Amino acid sequence: MKSITVMLAAMLAAMAALGPARAAEPAPKPWWKGAVIYEIYPRSFQDSDGDGLGDLNGITRRLDYLADLGVDAIWLTPIYPSPQVDFGYDVSDYRAIDPRFGTMADFDRLVASAAKRHIRVVIDLVLNHTSDQHQWFKQSRRSRDDPKRDWYIWRDGRAGGPPNNWISIFGHSAWKYDALTKQYYLHQFMPEQPDLNWRNPAVETAMFDAARFWLDPGVTGFRLDAVTSIYEDPAFRDAKPTGGISNFGDPNQDRAMTDNLPEVHDVIKRLRKVADGYAGDRVLIGETYLPNVAELDKWYGTAGSNGGGDELTLPMDLQLGFADRLDAATLRVRIMDAETGIHRREPLYVFDNHDQRRSWDRLGDGAHNDAIAKVVATVLLASRDTAMMYYGEEIGMPTTDPARKEDVRDPNGMTGWPKEKGRDGSRTPMQWDAGLNAGFSLAAKTWLPVPASYAARNVAVEARDPASLLNWHKRLIALRRAYPALRDGDTRLVATGDTNVLAWVRRVAGRPAVLVACNVSAEAHTLRLAPDEAAGRARVLLASAEGTPGVDVAALALEPYGVFIGELAR
Ligand code: GLC
Repeated sequence: MKSITVMLAAMLAAMAALGPARAAEPAPKPWWKGAVIYEIYPRSFQDSDGDGLGDLNGITRRLDYLADLGVDAIWLTPIYPSPQVDFGYDVSDYRAIDPRFGTMADFDRLVASAAKRHIRVVIDLVLNHTSDQHQWFKQSRRSRDDPKRDWYIWRDGRAGGPPNNWISIFGHSAWKYDALTKQYYLHQFMPEQPDLNWRNPAVETAMFDAARFWLDPGVTGFRLDAVTSIYEDPAFRDAKPTGGISNFGDPNQDRAMTDNLPEVHDVIKRLRKVADGYAGDRVLIGETYLPNVAELDKWYGTAGSNGGGDELTLPMDLQLGFADRLDAATLRVRIMDAETGIHRREPLYVFDNHDQRRSWDRLGDGAHNDAIAKVVATVLLASRDTAMMYYGEEIGMPTTDPARKEDVRDPNGMTGWPKEKGRDGSRTPMQWDAGLNAGFSLAAKTWLPVPASYAARNVAVEARDPASLLNWHKRLIALRRAYPALRDGDTRLVATGDTNVLAWVRRVAGRPAVLVACNVSAEAHTLRLAPDEAAGRARVLLASAEGTPGVDVAALALEPYGVFIGELAR
């Protein structure tokens, strides 16, 4: 028997190996808190091989620009092999790169070059549907008893027509008849995008394997496409009409049968476990168009894991940025929603993406667009949030719709023309300089035309102008990094009765607070703050009216759509 002394010595040695006892340290902040994530539409960012279409090597070439702007991560819309009916959102292979965009080696080089610049790479994961050219669907179509049949949603017709009245998000019936097996399949988007059957566990296994395929070599995570739509009513009951006619000429419908069904949360919990199994704060970002903040809150999940939930890391808050207009009262409600409605978790604000008209046009009034875009940038980048930007937003690229039906490339525009012009207008080539094709491509013809605005509005011109929108974004991102109150501070809305100005104070213990004030009106206006909201002189950190080093915040004069960001004395 071992002596007590020997056992004690062994115990002491084991304890020494564990190191000195330390007080529990707070977990380090995950990288995405307060980060800036920049969405790239690869077709339109930079063409490196002269075919008129952007590609991966083009993105790699522009990484220094992104690092200089200050982005922490890029999200690439789908780069998988695809017939490109919906420009990559019709995936025919989840484990490869479309040759149009490059090779797997190009992708690895992009990820490694980005990492050198501390930029992470997030890719799209399309869960709801595949391309009709995916091997899975080709097999599923073959016969009613093919083992892959139940990977998709096949139903018999009803009274000589489709199984029910559901309308596709891209117009007309959501069912397509397939004469081969005399059944209909469901497609909530294009007929070439058949919906997967998530009630079949084999679908989950295959899709999670695809996720691991990208997480293994170091992709930071996914933006989950159309994630709210992956389940539909198991009884396939008809949708209720909501009155009116859509841009596609269909009756509008309530989407309760096809959107936001509770079952999806279990899948996301399991996918989160997969992502959390990897080191380095992998993220799940959700395309979550939701009716209100209570629904948004559910997408974070409940139990805690890095950042306060067990479902999506960052479900997009699409209510703030896609409000119809810049209105102080509405914005205050949305910001308070994010402050109080999601249990202190991190909101992900978005003003622009590849599916919507650019905020430049949606929120611009035609006369003050540049100043309005500075307000938008301020709300996005001086808030307590993770900020999602879209390429070109930082230089004020306009939405440029196709002029004629024959120029339309987006399937939505083809189905809905002329009422629905589609999404081409916000997917035009990035405007880099005043040279050929705005520096985007050396091709004779680019996949979408370069808007005429490129001559005056481009990265090269704006980089030289200290007052440009591009430099405004850069300075905001730099401030967000440098000032603890802007990086970590709480938000308190101030002057909440003011109808012209949206203002808030960010405060963190022991550091100077920062006041942010945005005049969201076309009139000059003086903001008056109560002494308990903010008092004394503020040192200017960034203001649209240059020249004043300090101002008295009791009466803060703002020009139309003027912005003031200042450090408070206390
Ligand atoms: C998402 C994408 C959109 C695509 C659709 C179908 O909404 O953002 O571009 O067309 O899903 O995949």
